[in-house]
Amino acid sequence: SLSRRNLLKASASLAGCAALGAGLARHAGAAPPPTPLALVAQPARMTIGSATAQSEVMTYGLGETAPSGMPPVLRMRKGEPFAARFTNRLAEPSTVHWHGLRIDNAMDGVPELTQPYVYPGDGFDYRFTPPDAGTFWYHPHCNTLEQMGRGLTGVIVVEDPADPVFDAEVVLNLRDWRLRPDGSFLEAFKPRDAARSGTFGTLRTANWRDAPMIDAPAGGLVRLRLAATDVTRIYTLGLAGADAVVLSLDGHATPRPLPLDQIDLAPGQRADLVLRMPDGEGMTVTLTNFRGSTPWTVAGLRAVGASAHRALGDVKALSPNALSPFDAGSATRIPLDFTATAEHAPSPSLCGSIGYTFWAINKVPWQGDTTDPTAPLAELKLGRSYILEMANRTPHAHPIHLHGLTFTIISSNKRDRLPPPTDTILLQPDEKAELALVADNPGDWMLHCHIIEHQKSGMSAYFRVT
Ligand code: C2O
Ligand code: CU
Repeated sequence: SLSRRNLLKASASLAGCAALGAGLARHAGAAPPPTPLALVAQPARMTIGSATAQSEVMTYGLGETAPSGMPPVLRMRKGEPFAARFTNRLAEPSTVHWHGLRIDNAMDGVPELTQPYVYPGDGFDYRFTPPDAGTFWYHPHCNTLEQMGRGLTGVIVVEDPADPVFDAEVVLNLRDWRLRPDGSFLEAFKPRDAARSGTFGTLRTANWRDAPMIDAPAGGLVRLRLAATDVTRIYTLGLAGADAVVLSLDGHATPRPLPLDQIDLAPGQRADLVLRMPDGEGMTVTLTNFRGSTPWTVAGLRAVGASAHRALGDVKALSPNALSPFDAGSATRIPLDFTATAEHAPSPSLCGSIGYTFWAINKVPWQGDTTDPTAPLAELKLGRSYILEMANRTPHAHPIHLHGLTFTIISSNKRDRLPPPTDTILLQPDEKAELALVADNPGDWMLHCHIIEHQKSGMSAYFRVT
């Protein structure tokens, strides 16, 4: 049989042709290609949250500017080409994955599956056209527990010229850090916890700060873009001091603005809210996490200036992103069982294996990012409709993420209200859910738990769409 490497080359050049074809059709005679952004993964020293000492983090910076805080929020435009020249200044291989963006497979950033490793000192050109507007994010797909744990998680905003304009926009990148009081990093995980709900951080942050207080116009409407980029923590978030509506989840619009009560946000997930600031100067709104034994403040907003006197009732639904029509009549069913396993340890991997196997999808634990990954979980026909029958046969929640494709939850034994289309489903303990999917993007697409210890200890697989 063909080696993975040859397959990679073949599919890369095919994807290249497809991209070129699509590009010509869409942009014939249009603007010249964009100047690539210089995105640099690098080590840095900075003080995280309430820590009293600096930590040796990993971060993304733009060009030669020394990074001083969280990775930049990358802004793109729906339907317009984006380009980034990625440079790896870390001491280990890396890649960039654009979580939730339905782009060409060759740009998806999964080493061995969609592109070669980017070795220290090397680079890679990412070029794509985001088809959907919304809040997304980016992170490596290599030694992820370490690289993401140390800071390589950034937010992407894909703007739509048709987006409603609000009085302010606030982006919050939510995550934890496993730090000792002296600023040094603790071990990335504990095997005992990796076999359960994951190893939690010791320091909680929003935008790399401890419960930041952010100014926003009094009486104004604020679009709050939340991204949960932690490797482990599932949030249950609520707002005190303001009313709010949910505009979109995981980059896909709710059919109408839904009043916000509390919202679960698992690793990989995003939520766009619109809140109405209080009228009184200095009044505050707090974003609180209610999951776990004691609620705690994630971030706050403080009203500044004279009231803008806006009304939350005036907020309209966002225009939905276009998805291929799902055909229930012809859909093929694919059962997907998520289980614990004691099978065998994965083979050593260039891209970081955590050395344990605790989880499996359809009884097969992922072999690690080897040069010869396991066979695809299923081969899907381009353009055909599928129903993924997911069953969580574990007592733990798993945020299951699918690359490159968007699915819609059409049934579940654990929810009354079904969310908009998504790329990440928080599969509850013992949940059985049916996901409608159109295989409209060719290539090898990872499917994995976004609790990174689960991903790296077996709960990972991929679909091949041809
Ligand atoms: Cu957020 Cu495989 O990715
Ligand atoms: Cu999991």
